Amino acid sequence: MEYRRLGKSGLKVSALSLGSWVTFGKQVAIKDATTLLKTAYDAGMNFFDNAEGYEAGESEKIMGEAIKSLGLPRDTFAVSSKVFWGGKQKMQLGLSAKHVRDACDLALKRLQVDYLDLYFCHRPDIDTPIEETVRAMHNLILQGKIIYWGTSEWSAREITQAHAVAQAYGLTPPVMEQPQYNLLHRDKVEAEFSPLYENYGLGTTIWSPLASGILTGKYNEGIPSDSRLNLPDYEWLRDLWSGEEGKQKLEKVRKLTQLSKELGISLTHMSIAWCLKNPNVSTVILGASRLSQLKDNLKSLEVIPKLTPQVMDEIEAIVDNKPAAPERFGQ
Ligand SMILES: NC(=O)c1ccc[n+]([C@@H]2O[C@H](COP(=O)([O-])OP(=O)(O)OC[C@H]3O[C@@H](n4cnc5c(N)ncnc54)[C@H](OP(=O)(O)O)[C@@H]3O)[C@@H](O)[C@H]2O)c1
Repeated sequence: MEYRRLGKSGLKVSALSLGSWVTFGKQVAIKDATTLLKTAYDAGMNFFDNAEGYEAGESEKIMGEAIKSLGLPRDTFAVSSKVFWGGKQKMQLGLSAKHVRDACDLALKRLQVDYLDLYFCHRPDIDTPIEETVRAMHNLILQGKIIYWGTSEWSAREITQAHAVAQAYGLTPPVMEQPQYNLLHRDKVEAEFSPLYENYGLGTTIWSPLASGILTGKYNEGIPSDSRLNLPDYEWLRDLWSGEEGKQKLEKVRKLTQLSKELGISLTHMSIAWCLKNPNVSTVILGASRLSQLKDNLKSLEVIPKLTPQVMDEIEAIVDNKPAAPERFGQ
């Protein structure tokens, strides 16, 4: 396993980590979740990603049970939660100081831990002043309930505002952001956030490295019956791929599949290794609905050296979606 600093923080996270979205509580029950977690931990993974909204808290309960039954020493792994979607009632939603605090307490109970290592604002909340949320996170740090706080799918502008507020009032700024990043979705990580790496030492815990499995190539000829896009309640995800934009992306995936065959590597490994090539990625969060997938995906680390500049150019020519670098004056 390779380890990377979470931005400019001192926390060294494994380059590959494991998340629980869709899988824990929906596709995977406690026995298989425990096997997944043990395999991940034994392979050197030290970060496990969660959210209050995943399966209405059920996935965090399973993660907590798995961590407990394996008896993982608390000082050897980091566990996260995210606040935003805590239930149907108004007070269970968003980033008010009250919900940030309540959601943290509930996540600690479900995960059966004394503190969260990473605590994310799962989305921006336009109904709550950023100062209120920054202060709520700062207070949780002072109370010893969380160690690092960050954001997920915030804009560079919103993250910059959070830093400005933190600096003005002597509060703790966000350390990391959790954006989607994969061969088909690049703008935020590669362009929009560029100044934030330099100015604030932003770390990134990136999600959906395989675009929900599309970048394994298994959707090239249609939707397999036992796949995420065929799950009840995830019709919205399937719809994303059945529109014109989705079809165009699938065509690129077919071409990437061909290239990976010519190179003698699997498209899955190539796609994950491609994310890892970006030095601004602190950790790539994997998802797995079965053990064979996790074991397979772990091999991606070995593929990084095969992504030579020439191969990266060939990939670039197919995806053809490199974001323009942000404009710099005087250079
Ligand atoms: N912050 C956010 O807003 C946000 C959003 C999404 C995810 N996340 C985090 O990121 C984590 C990873 O996201 P993700 O699950 O979307 O990652 P992903 O790697 O893009 O997709 C994982 C899914 O792809 C399929 N798959 C994975 N490896 C495979 C293989 N070797 N062969 C065939 N199929 C394979 C499996 O689905 P099936 O077997 O069901 O087809 C698996 O559950 C989540 O668990 C969560 O912690 C965060």
